[in-house]
Amino acid sequence: MKRLQGKTALITGAARGIGFEFAKAYIAEGAQVAIADIDIARAQTAAQELASSAIAIEMDVTRQDSIDAAITKAVKQLGDIDILINNAAIFTAAPIDEITRKDFDAVFAINVSGVLFTMQAVAKHMIARGQGGKIINMASQAGRRGEALVAVYCASKAAVISMTQSAGLNLIQHGINVNAIAPGVVDGEHWDGVDAFFAKYEAKPLGQKKKEVGDAVPIGRMAKASDLTGMAVFLASAEADYIVAQTFGVDGGNWMS
Ligand SMILES: NC(=O)c1ccc[n+]([C@@H]2O[C@H](COP(=O)([O-])OP(=O)(O)OC[C@H]3O[C@@H](n4cnc5c(N)ncnc54)[C@H](O)[C@@H]3O)[C@@H](O)[C@H]2O)c1
Repeated sequence: MKRLQGKTALITGAARGIGFEFAKAYIAEGAQVAIADIDIARAQTAAQELASSAIAIEMDVTRQDSIDAAITKAVKQLGDIDILINNAAIFTAAPIDEITRKDFDAVFAINVSGVLFTMQAVAKHMIARGQGGKIINMASQAGRRGEALVAVYCASKAAVISMTQSAGLNLIQHGINVNAIAPGVVDGEHWDGVDAFFAKYEAKPLGQKKKEVGDAVPIGRMAKASDLTGMAVFLASAEADYIVAQTFGVDGGNWMS
């Protein structure tokens, strides 16, 4: 028996990277997946690659009307939502004296408000349905401690860990398990962007920071997105029914909690 047989999942930011890998893993375990992303063209390509078990939905997690419309569309096309992964996020870096309000607002609108209000909207749907559900928020090792150049993103991920605790405690009365995953450093387009910030602020050639952080992981390398799928499947499955309000590091030993 597949572990997510017959389940429907909505994954934000799943057009690429970790979210796309989660979509693949969920489908392999018998689920149907709504790939909800602001980049609809890429979401459509991703859904086509995953064939009949996936649909693409345009969704901007910073807008309530877009959140509501995406959920309505997912329910109409795939059926009631059993699993939500709040995965969409953006990264920014700057020394404290160069942080702009514009950057702060953009990061918090996606990484914090986007997570909270998508979680709220899907939780309302799950409560009304009365069959519980699983919500997984994507945190980060960055949410466990500050970093000199990464104040805003680190704070946004600390907020994700905190909201996971509060929502976990509040929603378990409805049979909704809220938990989070805190990756370390995961190779892909996201980290190419991170590397470019460090190239600028630490005057390193492109690719240098990425190599350094990969070498520094206790396990000896950066993660691949597929290194995270085991935890994402587990937390969405019935095996995780007794797990509430936790954030799990999947980071090759970068952080011990
Ligand atoms: N890659 C890493 O090293 C790493 C480490 C720790 C945590 N994480 C977290 O894991 C998650 C996935 O990371 P990734 O590396 O796959 O990122 P990514 O940048 O490759 O993908 C993010 C996706 O989110 C989408 N998106 C951006 N803004 C959106 C919005 N307003 N509404 C809907 N979708 C939007 C993008 O179009 C993109 O498809 C993120 O929450 C990230 O913070 C990543």
